[in-house]
Amino acid sequence: MTQTKPMRAIILFDSRTSGGSTDKLIDSIGLALAEKGAYVEKAKCKTTGDYSFVDDFDVVIMGAPIYYLVVSSQLLGALIQSNLKKYLAGKKVALFLTCGSPELMANMLYLPQLKLNLAGCPILAEKIFAPQEISEPAVIGKFVDDVVNAYEKA
Ligand SMILES: Cc1cc2nc3c(=O)[nH]c(=O)nc-3n(C[C@H](O)[C@H](O)[C@H](O)COP(=O)(O)O)c2cc1C
Repeated sequence: MTQTKPMRAIILFDSRTSGGSTDKLIDSIGLALAEKGAYVEKAKCKTTGDYSFVDDFDVVIMGAPIYYLVVSSQLLGALIQSNLKKYLAGKKVALFLTCGSPELMANMLYLPQLKLNLAGCPILAEKIFAPQEISEPAVIGKFVDDVVNAYEKA
């Protein structure tokens, strides 16, 4: 990381499964970001949450699994119903999803569910993680590199 001030990143996520693939993935993403010199926190989304804390961060990394064709409900709900969208205005974001569907289908059907709520937010990187990629350090490292490189260029 070449900038003098460390990047402050918050990972906003949701999953129905405690200790499941999303939990593992965000821990790996957080660790890889910290190794690059970033300050990282994570927060599990609630539809009714107060997201004013998002103001303290330079980058918002958002991700969740897909259940029955829909992005996990507390993340999507927070985007639609809470003040999250207000605090995301103009923020740099990165997106990831974990799901079993092929990447093409996920790009067409699932990512837009997030992106439709993020008009005006520069998207640094986006990634669909297939089940076998969740424990692949190289794949996770590439996503984190993409986020950091895009942040430094922005
Ligand atoms: C009840 C259920 C429904 C699912 N529905 C879908 C789906 O519609 N499309 C898809 O691509 N993957 C689907 N999946 C796969 C999950 O998105 C994937 O396994 C994800 O990594 C689970 O994350 P978690 O371990 O944090 O819960 C489903 C999984 C479960 C358990």
